[in-house]
Amino acid sequence: MSSYYQHHVFFCLNQRDSGEACCGNHNAAKMQEYAKKRCKQLGIAGGEGRVRINKAGCLNRCELGPVLVVYPEAVWYTFVDEQDIDEIIESHLLNGKPVERLMVDR
Ligand code: FES
Repeated sequence: MSSYYQHHVFFCLNQRDSGEACCGNHNAAKMQEYAKKRCKQLGIAGGEGRVRINKAGCLNRCELGPVLVVYPEAVWYTFVDEQDIDEIIESHLLNGKPVERLMVDR
């Protein structure tokens, strides 16, 4: 069975007040919004066969955060700023080439 979306991206946006590690402390919400906006601008966002950027709760890799994961490839990334998000979008989402330097599992 093939994947409904060409790439389905989940950003962990979990925010904890307890002081424990969480992606919400690392600009995750802003970067998710940015990714969504960029994919729209680039014309790759949409329904079946296209790219979808979603918010997620804790993905249970908090110490490595902020994290996002791209399916169906199941490639996990961390990121710092808009340049990192741009690189993931341009290389992985547009050209199918995962970005080694931002991968969490190497
Ligand atoms: S808080 Fe993001 S993976 Fe747990």
